Amino acid sequence: MLSVSGIRKAFPGVQALAGVKLEVKAGEIHALVGENGAGKSTLTRIIAGVESPDEGEIRLGEAVVQWHGPAQAKAAGIHVIYQEFVLFPHLTVAENIFLGRMPRNRLGLLDHAQAERRSREILDRLGVSIDVRQQVRLLTVADQQMVEIAKAMIDTPKVLILDEPTAVIAGREVELLFTRLRRLREAGVAIIYISHRLDEIFALCDRLTVIKDGQWIATQPVAGMTRDTLITMMVGRDLAHLFPPHEQPPPAQPDVVLQAQDIHVGRRVLGCSLELHAGIITGLAGMVGSGRSELAMAIFGGLPMERGTVTIAGRSFRTITPGQAISLGIGFVTEDRKGQGLAMLQPIGANISAASLETVRRGVMRDGRREWQIAEEDIASYQIACRGPGTLVSTMSGGNQQKVLIARWARACHRVLILDEPTRGVDVGARAEIYRIMRGLAARGIAILMISSELPEVVGMSDRVYVMREGSITGILEKDEITEEAVVDLATHDRQAA
Ligand SMILES: Nc1ncnc2c1ncn2[C@@H]1O[C@H](COP(=O)(O)OP(=O)(O)OP(=O)(O)O)[C@@H](O)[C@H]1O
Ligand SMILES: [Mg+2]
Repeated sequence: MLSVSGIRKAFPGVQALAGVKLEVKAGEIHALVGENGAGKSTLTRIIAGVESPDEGEIRLGEAVVQWHGPAQAKAAGIHVIYQEFVLFPHLTVAENIFLGRMPRNRLGLLDHAQAERRSREILDRLGVSIDVRQQVRLLTVADQQMVEIAKAMIDTPKVLILDEPTAVIAGREVELLFTRLRRLREAGVAIIYISHRLDEIFALCDRLTVIKDGQWIATQPVAGMTRDTLITMMVGRDLAHLFPPHEQPPPAQPDVVLQAQDIHVGRRVLGCSLELHAGIITGLAGMVGSGRSELAMAIFGGLPMERGTVTIAGRSFRTITPGQAISLGIGFVTEDRKGQGLAMLQPIGANISAASLETVRRGVMRDGRREWQIAEEDIASYQIACRGPGTLVSTMSGGNQQKVLIARWARACHRVLILDEPTRGVDVGARAEIYRIMRGLAARGIAILMISSELPEVVGMSDRVYVMREGSITGILEKDEITEEAVVDLATHDRQAA
């Protein structure tokens, strides 16, 4: 159905693609895998006509095509769900789904009622209940992703490309998405699926293509492959320990660094209490939407709490601002790195220093040399793929952006580091790096709170785990009690049965 070959694309200073090929059949789900910065998203944008290749050929069916802009590719039946959302925050859900294709009534006027009805149908089929009249900016990140997916379902595309569609959804939503994708496969759609979650590739895909540094490495059927062979192909070495072993056992009677008591935030957090300990990695697990992020935000001062107290280093707060939290040594790596985290149009250096400006000031001046030096250290220790501290964050791949965000807060915090889905969109190699960094920070005595929807990560990294369900904490697991089953049980048990 779709085949590309010999694709090359250079950006100033980077050869993003250096001769990639990819061939996808009708009725096939084809995984495109590779490390952060391998060139997956760039290839996607070329297939979709958003960027033009320097060299190479794109064939759709038998015909060689050359796109002049994305509208042409779309008209030819290529639909892409991008890694970074392209939703308009102030438009409603229905307006976003039908953007540029709003149905018209007999008088030629925009037919909002029809758009809303059809949007509701599509979302129903995806198994999500979202108010189609609501503005997109008011939705959770997971719901925004479902809107993004719904856009692709209006009419059946010939080629559907999904660039990390499950980065912000989990559990049931992922299952429903897979069911839809399998149906589209039966209908003969050629699907390209990009994900860093290897278990999804094994569960969903028929064949896979590995790319590395912009080059084609291999194309193979998924059946018969093992996780280890796939990782070796992607990373070029095997990863014995994804989760680093403890160098020293975590402290047996650690100091309480932060205490949150009876926190209430709207209807999302209904009286939660937790304690964070020096040198301990505390997991905060639960389904997407269970209130984990809101609880963490409230502790950091990013959301107002209606009730409750936060005690940090002996000081109690009924209201707290992010400024106060930061000055007390709390860092927060948000889940929405684009919206709330990084300054996309700024270089790496400024992004890393953004939360610890006092370290790069000389009097009232900004010390550019120091900022550059700090960035160089972090680029090396986190293995951030870039040209140097001056690289603009907007030109970096998703996983590398995430490392920049973590580097910023690791510099700024000295008591508590809160990480919301720290490895979302991060490749296996870099993921191991991030885990190593987290362990290192804990070993220095920092209390870590890690929100995660990935069970292996919760189990592999946490010394203690709080599990949330529908705004409440339903259990605390310690050491050996931390198993995937125990977490799922606490996260999903329904109220009547409990
Ligand atoms: N507009 C741009 N300007 C400069 N460099 C770019 C631009 N877009 C991408 N790059 C570079 O091209 C390379 C490939 O990036 P790409 O986003 O395609 O990687 P990816 O495989 O999608 O990674 P990830 O898994 O992190 O999403 C990277 O080195 C990236 O920094
Ligand atoms: Mg990408």
